[in-house]
Amino acid sequence: MAGSVTLLAGEPGVGKSTLALQLAAQAAQRGQRSLYISAEESPAQVQQRAKRLDALCPDLWLAGSNDVDAIVAEIGRLEPGLVIVDSIQTVAVAEVGAAPGSVTQVRAAALRLANAARVHDCAIVLIGHVTKDGSLAGPRQLEHLVDTVLNFEGDRHHALRLLRAVKHRFGPTSELGLFEMVQGGLVDVEDASGLFLADRRPGAVGSVVFPMVDGQRPLLVELQSLVVSGPGCTDPRRSVQGVDGGRLALLLAVLGRVCELPVLSAEVYCLAAGGVTVHDPGADLALACAIVSSLSAKAVPADTVICGEVGLGGEVRAVRHAERRLAEAVRGGFRRALVPANSPDIVGLSLIRASTVGEALLAIGLGAARPMRGSGPREADPARRHPAAS
Ligand SMILES: Nc1ncnc2c1ncn2[C@@H]1O[C@H](COP(=O)(O)OP(=O)(O)OP(=O)(O)O)[C@@H](O)[C@H]1O
Ligand SMILES: [Mg+2]
Repeated sequence: MAGSVTLLAGEPGVGKSTLALQLAAQAAQRGQRSLYISAEESPAQVQQRAKRLDALCPDLWLAGSNDVDAIVAEIGRLEPGLVIVDSIQTVAVAEVGAAPGSVTQVRAAALRLANAARVHDCAIVLIGHVTKDGSLAGPRQLEHLVDTVLNFEGDRHHALRLLRAVKHRFGPTSELGLFEMVQGGLVDVEDASGLFLADRRPGAVGSVVFPMVDGQRPLLVELQSLVVSGPGCTDPRRSVQGVDGGRLALLLAVLGRVCELPVLSAEVYCLAAGGVTVHDPGADLALACAIVSSLSAKAVPADTVICGEVGLGGEVRAVRHAERRLAEAVRGGFRRALVPANSPDIVGLSLIRASTVGEALLAIGLGAARPMRGSGPREADPARRHPAAS
């Protein structure tokens, strides 16, 4: 959108410069003059990357500068349609005394650039670094100053990258872009479910396929759990990767107290395979089944997907976009789905409906969960207390 300012935020090394350079090159190849300002790397380094990405073209201009006034002057001289500023933390307004990257300087630079976007009717993309917990002050302070905030996420050790709009004044925020980082840059991922499930061993203990919805986009993701129970574990280790630690704690409490399973004193490791991060509460039931699968050393049937939100009473609640999730499961070749009780029917999938975690575990062959009695579970002899633990 001409005159708009977009913040492209992400962790160091995730691929922000690559994405922005590819964007600028595509705009330039369509005949829109694009200006890439690099305040971090030398123009020669950016040019080298542009060569690798096959991005060089006559309408793509590269400049190295960290002075905002010089950048604004360059925008005035070239009148580009798209400007990339890489990054907002390394440019500075000379008369503001603060150091580049400080809150004062980042705000002053962003305000001046936003003004230039309006005056020169160009779209400006500001690249901003954030740390994993989003704690670095600069970019977060900018969110209300800009028109659009795009978060670029992904695990540096995996090729997959997710681009999501967290704020968008000119369009929906429910879109999700999926890219893969390859030698030639970022490429669109068409079959994301296939990519996530590529390394899966069907029928493995502790593994469950969850039909996730991220934004509007359905994705099949493998959730894995490993439960290590041993006697005398007073402060058991809990480790998560790509799933929410708070949700895991809640699920363990439900499995331990409501279903009377011996998980409270066990070490529990959970992850979402493929470097994806699951923000969707509909993953609860799948994760609970993965945990019980590992605990009981029984596999969840390989042709089954699982979704449902779990409440503190052990009840299984409906999930958003149930039909979209299940349609993706059909597309991925799955035959059965363990789902909340009121889920709609879908052609091609046999549904197993459950209204509690206990019913769900029973239905999927992971043993019967007992209702809670008395003052709560005793974990002295898990093998005798629950068939799943034997
Ligand atoms: N020659 C290469 N071949 C393949 N992938 C590469 C190559 N060079 C860099 N990459 C990929 O690009 C990533 C870095 O991309 P990029 O520099 O765009 O990230 P960034 O978010 O801008 O990083 P920074 O925070 O350092 O500015 C690397 O982590 C790597 O995955
Ligand atoms: Mg960069």
